[in-house]
Amino acid sequence: MKTIEDLGDLRGKRVLVRSDFNVPLDGTTITDDGRIRAALPTLQALTAQGARVIVVAHLGRPKGAPDAKYSLAPVAARLGELLGQPVALAEDLVGDSAKATVAALEDGQVALLENVRFDARETSKDDAERGALADELASLADAFVSDGFGVVHRKQASVYDVALRLPHAAGTLVLAEVEALRKAVEDPERPYVVVLGGAKVSDKLGVIGNLITKADKLLIGGGMMFTFLKAQGHEVGSSLLEEDQVDTVKGYLAQAQEAGVEIVLPVDTLVAPEFGSDDYQVVAVDAIPAGTMGLDIGPKSAALFREAILAAKTIAWNGPMGVFERPAYAEGTKAVAQALVDTDGFSIVGGGDSAAAVRLLGFDEAGFGHISTGGGASLELLEGKTLPGIAVLED
Ligand code: 3PG
Repeated sequence: MKTIEDLGDLRGKRVLVRSDFNVPLDGTTITDDGRIRAALPTLQALTAQGARVIVVAHLGRPKGAPDAKYSLAPVAARLGELLGQPVALAEDLVGDSAKATVAALEDGQVALLENVRFDARETSKDDAERGALADELASLADAFVSDGFGVVHRKQASVYDVALRLPHAAGTLVLAEVEALRKAVEDPERPYVVVLGGAKVSDKLGVIGNLITKADKLLIGGGMMFTFLKAQGHEVGSSLLEEDQVDTVKGYLAQAQEAGVEIVLPVDTLVAPEFGSDDYQVVAVDAIPAGTMGLDIGPKSAALFREAILAAKTIAWNGPMGVFERPAYAEGTKAVAQALVDTDGFSIVGGGDSAAAVRLLGFDEAGFGHISTGGGASLELLEGKTLPGIAVLED
């Protein structure tokens, strides 16, 4: 992939940057600005060279029309604070306001276009429709830098089609993410241990299928563990269960055994009568009382997972071990995060939720090998898929 340096002298040039500013919001308050901070090195490299930087990004999933709830205004304000210079927000994407905002940019300044998903053409399946939007976006700039790693798995106008129309390069975030994740996929130092969690096993089927042939050990926690436990014949009370995936999971367990890949399931779990209840207890996974639901892995499982993580040379982690947003149910996720900090192996934290968990639980990001900003994108790389937003940069 070409880098920003390959674009030559950018002083006075208009550079369109695709960033991923899809941050969690509580009203208009950004609750985790990790993705904005991760975008800074590329933006700073460009402003330092005197480029005129135009950032294009999405927030949430608006229905292809302007919707104030999904305005990038809070992001523009936070980005300005972090960059230490004001960031002008255009009122539209490619209309009069965008054109005027770009025309007013001086060397080294940054502007943000309004949410790219306010235009239905961005996510259209029709090449011509996306192409028409990409033409308009490209007309605003002299070069394109793709740095929104979290969206490179999307074949969308601002990710894919615009790169076909302008001299382009990968930003530093995309380069760092691809390097770290590809290493884990293609050439991991062994033992290679993967920790998977999160609510649903159906979101992770592709990744499990691919990892059964690649990893040495799979540690399974989070809501998805109950479908695995059920597949092993355990009763799981009222825990999250995907009944329709039980047979698929049985197939994975058999496949793993054949391939010599160890699937490590929790041996205990923290259960409560309902979510939010403080009436919780730790039970063995073969003794989950009817009418209770599992909300975290238990301490014995956490110790088991820690041991496997400490013995590994490469560890990839995707998905929390429990409902970490509530302190009482966060111990399993904390234990896994701590083990990733303590291991001598190279640790990769992927998935929006695990990255957010690490920050929310107060861990220092520097303690990890690599924290991915990508949710779906990092999962698809771990699945071994070709991502359109990467492939287009490699051509
Ligand atoms: C993400 O949050 O994973 C990315 O920003 C992609 O968002 P999307 O799933 O709505 O395309």
